[in-house]
Amino acid sequence: MSGIFVTGTDTGVGKTYATIYLAEKFRRDGIDVGVMKPISTGPDKDNDAWLLKKKLKLDDPIELINPVRLKYPLAPYPAAKLEKKKIDLKKIFSAYKELEKRHQTIIVEGIGGVAVPITEKYCVADLIHDLGLPAVVVARAGLGTINHTLLTIGALIDCHVEVMGVIMNGFTGKDRSEKTNAEVIEKLSGVPVLEKLKWAR
Ligand SMILES: Nc1ncnc2c1ncn2[C@@H]1O[C@H](COP(=O)(O)OP(=O)(O)OP(=O)(O)O)[C@@H](O)[C@H]1O
Ligand SMILES: [Mg+2]
Repeated sequence: MSGIFVTGTDTGVGKTYATIYLAEKFRRDGIDVGVMKPISTGPDKDNDAWLLKKKLKLDDPIELINPVRLKYPLAPYPAAKLEKKKIDLKKIFSAYKELEKRHQTIIVEGIGGVAVPITEKYCVADLIHDLGLPAVVVARAGLGTINHTLLTIGALIDCHVEVMGVIMNGFTGKDRSEKTNAEVIEKLSGVPVLEKLKWAR
């Protein structure tokens, strides 16, 4: 497998957290893993790309890990528009190809959720499709997650993306729905829940 794309049901749902978790897991299994955050928006300092690079002690240049950087903390399409910039998708595909040469597998962290626009006519689900990667969906553990997760899986299937599984993140033990959400999601979507990650703080 050349890579996986870590997407999520929303922004802030734990994609970076899950990307680090998966990368460390692959490494324990002896797999050399690289990561990518194709587009970052907002302040450059300590963004996801830098966080991934530092946390996983990766030698790859930041321009490969994060080929497209936008100044404003918005979805890529409005962020690029505000900056009067055109997002060069080719930069993303060529950086991915270069990372593929350097590592056995690449984990790509998405931007927000699957319907987030990169251009007017191109969203994150299209990018996953065009990179030819299977998707892992990071979802919240608690109430509301069934709706968001099923909608996300549906949108990925509509874009002909293979959905490998769901990582449910942030179990607190305090929300009653945490006990039943995973089973319901698996049953209604046919997609397995691969991991259940506890809220670690
Ligand atoms: N299981 C967890 N335990 C403790 N903290 C967590 C956990 N999951 C996520 N967090 C924290 O919650 C915050 C949001 O998570 P994270 O940055 O991984 O979300 P994201 O989906 O990558 O967000 P974005 O859309 O901005 O990329 C971070 O501060 C992260 O460290
Ligand atoms: Mg992130």
